[in-house]
Amino acid sequence: MADMETMVQARSNVVEQVEIVGGEKLQGVISVSGAKNAVLKLMAASLLSNSQCLIRNVPRIRDVDTMLGVLRSIGVEIDWADEHSLLIRVDNYLNDTASDDLVRQMRASAQVMGPLLTRIGRVKLFQPGGCVIGQRPLDLHLKGFQAMGASILEEHGYIILEARRKLRGAEILLDFPSVGATENIMAAAILAEGVTVIRNAAKEPEIIEEQNFYNRLGAKIRGAGTDTIRIEGVTSLNDRMIDYTVIPDRIEAGTFMIAAAITGGEVEIANVIPEHIEALISKLKEVGIDVDVREDSVLVKSKGRFRGADVMVLPYPGFPTDLQPQITALLAIADSTSVITENVFGSRFRYVDELIRMGASIRVESRSAIVKGNAKLSGAPVYAPDLRAGASLVIAGLAAEGKTIIEGVQFLERGYERLELKLANLGADIKKTITVSSI
Ligand code: EPZ
Repeated sequence: MADMETMVQARSNVVEQVEIVGGEKLQGVISVSGAKNAVLKLMAASLLSNSQCLIRNVPRIRDVDTMLGVLRSIGVEIDWADEHSLLIRVDNYLNDTASDDLVRQMRASAQVMGPLLTRIGRVKLFQPGGCVIGQRPLDLHLKGFQAMGASILEEHGYIILEARRKLRGAEILLDFPSVGATENIMAAAILAEGVTVIRNAAKEPEIIEEQNFYNRLGAKIRGAGTDTIRIEGVTSLNDRMIDYTVIPDRIEAGTFMIAAAITGGEVEIANVIPEHIEALISKLKEVGIDVDVREDSVLVKSKGRFRGADVMVLPYPGFPTDLQPQITALLAIADSTSVITENVFGSRFRYVDELIRMGASIRVESRSAIVKGNAKLSGAPVYAPDLRAGASLVIAGLAAEGKTIIEGVQFLERGYERLELKLANLGADIKKTITVSSI
């Protein structure tokens, strides 16, 4: 029987919020954490290791915790070796399935399909489902597996993949340069018989990370970062231990650059790879914001006034969809109108209603948001429906007059390590509050 304390705790309603009082100019230096969208895939890639993998520069975020749980449920030994390093050990026995609850929480769980299918020949995974940024099918992943000889059954909410014999190399043309599909097919091809060529592959930097990681394990992959990736199947991988440091998070870097710009501040974002954020750097310069690019940092200097501009969201190296909500918040206060067109996800403007509540003047028409500019943003209670929408509301709150209270902090913590502390260190008046109310 749970004691009284636990029962009361269980019935209380814990609400985590972020409170911002806008108007402070951000000043100082901020260092970027490891890339969420690389780390999650390297964790999944470790399923092909025959030894131990040490992954360094891992951000302490909810999605990493979820993936850690997913891997444990598959039978992987994984734990924190230090504050930002994961030590992963894969023994021979792996389950063909993962915890439904965890898979349901995070779509990136689907990235275990490729490694598991090629290593043990069977995967049974709960459909990870979409989220508020649009319908997110896995058809391109599954078509790739099928082309390599896997059988696919979707029933009772599960995807069941089976390869009765070794997967065969295939020529695969992706209808869309899907990041996840590129990664999953690349993984599945590593131990297949023969050569697999992926055309119209995604070119994101995170895919180059995976190629490097897998090739350390003895895979033979070439072309990551271009639209054609060639994987020569091998009979087995080596049993060398891997010690791998993850690249910096280009989306976190971009989020801080936009936060500096909207507040009229001067911030150096350190530990970045400038070429990974070229599209944003060029857009900020286009609207009249000063960006000084150095070896591994960028200095953003803004007077708080800037022009509007049109933004065409495209697969890498185009303007990243994961910075679309953030740049929309910035352009809400620009001197002229902007049109932001989202070409990657079907509906990634759900957060716009919350920006309108703060005084932005935005009209969404099909895939585009027409942002009138010259908004006088004012603080308001708002809700973050997803991770990058949350970042957009934080950015708007930094420039708004008065207090903004953001609910949905759990979404922010999925992808940003201690965002409120990092911004407070730059002078923002921001804090996380936890209210416990008995219901
Ligand atoms: C990855 O998601 C990222 N997530 C996303 O970041 C990012 O927005 C996205 O790539 C695009 O860059 C991780 O890496 C964990 P996709 P992914 O497959 O792989 C359609 C964040 O905020 N599609 O490139 O799921 C799909 O519906 C997250 O960090 C199919 O139609 O993205 C979408 O419209 C959000 N069929 C488009 O392709 C498929 O089989 C791009 O999806 C697969 C995708």
